[in-house]
Amino acid sequence: MKKPSFATVVGSVTVAAIAVIAAAYMGIGSSAPKAYRADASDAAQVADGQRVYKAECASCHGAQLEGQANWRTRLPDGRLPAPPHDESGHTWHHPDQLLFVTTRDGGAKYAPPGFVSGMPAFGEKLTDNEIWAVLAYIKSRWPEPVRQRQARINERVQQQR
Ligand code: HEC
Repeated sequence: MKKPSFATVVGSVTVAAIAVIAAAYMGIGSSAPKAYRADASDAAQVADGQRVYKAECASCHGAQLEGQANWRTRLPDGRLPAPPHDESGHTWHHPDQLLFVTTRDGGAKYAPPGFVSGMPAFGEKLTDNEIWAVLAYIKSRWPEPVRQRQARINERVQQQR
């Protein structure tokens, strides 16, 4: 077998380094699972996610995913109200990976230092599969064009890896 040339080796090391930097820049880190497993077209996963959503998320993010009133304005204690997860919020501006780690690890971990977060960590309470399921449910509630735009955001992040 032909040995890889020096240029090939340097090239792939550079690509790997850029991928690591991109992941770090996005605040995702290496502990996030690599695969995207929240499938809005999987009826069983969506149903499971709806159960999790009602039990764990609806109290803050709203039964209809509408979020809390004035969600862009900080409360006196420095926290933000819970944002909507429907198309009026910015959940769909983020790749699955970031939504996953935010749900698992809570809002403070990936926010700037000093950020006071009202988003709890669910890693102790929910399995990875339950977190993917609740994301599948949230995605299933977006209109098709929004789902497609978020799918393209997922693809861009995947290409950086
Ligand atoms: C105690 C209230 C509360 C509960 C319960 C809660 N959240 Fe949140 N969540 C928040 C707040 C407040 C934010 C806004 C960001 C922050 O303060 O860190 C947020 C932000 C988020 C974000 C980031 C949205 C974005 O656009 O950046 C995701 C994703 C999220 N929550 C998912 C969930 C899921 C899934 C559940 C249920 C498993 C859940 N949350 C339960 C309060 C809550």
